[in-house]
Amino acid sequence: MSKRKGGEDWLEVLEVGPSTRRRLEELGVTSLEHLLEFTVDELVDAGIEPSTAERLLAKARELVGRKPRAVKASELLKAQYKVVKTGVAEFDEKTPWGGLREAFIYEFAGEFGAGKSMLAHQLSAKSIIEGFGDVVYIDTEGAFNAGLVERMAKRFGGDPSQVLDRVSVYVPDNVSALEAFVKYELPKHLKEGARTIVVDTITALYRAEFVGRESLAERQQRLHYLIDWFRRHARVFNALVVFTNQVMDVPEAFLSGLKRPAGGNVLAHAVNARFMMARPSKQKDEGYMWPLDVPGMAPDVKIQYRLADDGVY
Ligand SMILES: Nc1ncnc2c1ncn2[C@@H]1O[C@H](COP(=O)(O)OP(=O)(O)OP(=O)(O)O)[C@@H](O)[C@H]1O
Ligand SMILES: [Mg+2]
Repeated sequence: MSKRKGGEDWLEVLEVGPSTRRRLEELGVTSLEHLLEFTVDELVDAGIEPSTAERLLAKARELVGRKPRAVKASELLKAQYKVVKTGVAEFDEKTPWGGLREAFIYEFAGEFGAGKSMLAHQLSAKSIIEGFGDVVYIDTEGAFNAGLVERMAKRFGGDPSQVLDRVSVYVPDNVSALEAFVKYELPKHLKEGARTIVVDTITALYRAEFVGRESLAERQQRLHYLIDWFRRHARVFNALVVFTNQVMDVPEAFLSGLKRPAGGNVLAHAVNARFMMARPSKQKDEGYMWPLDVPGMAPDVKIQYRLADDGVY
């Protein structure tokens, strides 16, 4: 078991006995915040006594300053969320947050060539240049392009090499590797200054690995579990999570060409705001986006964008 610097401090303050300590280490817990992301059941599954698990979580909540308490609605109204501007002018103008806000999960779905990956790169560069935080980019399609981030950094006035040093890219081999990364590695990055997590694309590995109707239930279950971990990261670390997603034909409206995001209800319920992207003519560099179920946005809002060498405008 690797012992990172400071890795033992959080175990010291929890004042746990040697066997609980060993179980937490075996489980792969890396910080108090990470511990807080686990449920009692998950800790019990790892061999910890139920009463100890309850006590550990209560203590961790106290130490991290997350004691259960309700806030006044008036406080919520005044609450200031950290926001990253996307650099897509109409998106920053027309969305209720003026960009993308912390502790939210956003989804951008669209057909091939719509510009999803380009937007994902741009949000990475902007997160760093605006001082929001470092980025972990999970690239399930092998589409990450460091040169593109470099051009975007220049466009937005950042130091390209510094920006590239603060984007960590992970290419998962399969669903199981992706799950392990999200559950055990991401919390280390988040603890050490990462604040934005990008997944391009969230459903691809699941669609490839669980093929056919008979695998549908298992696929959805596994996807649900993964996304729940992103929700935990958004909540505990105030992380900004951005998924891109593929679209699929709506069978009952096949001729109309109507598409819906892949991932079904599992994904629809889990994200805080979802947008569709379309670029009707691949000969043109223009596209548009519209909100699908975005709180505070009328469904008929149209956000126009344009693709260029140095990103999305
Ligand atoms: N300088 C440019 N001007 C206009 N369009 C460009 C420029 N550079 C790249 N493009 C186009 O932008 C698109 C980039 O799309 P991107 O890779 O972001 O799409 P995507 O939605 O991620 O698609 P996929 O589903 O295939 O991953 C490509 O179709 C590419 O041809
Ligand atoms: Mg792409």
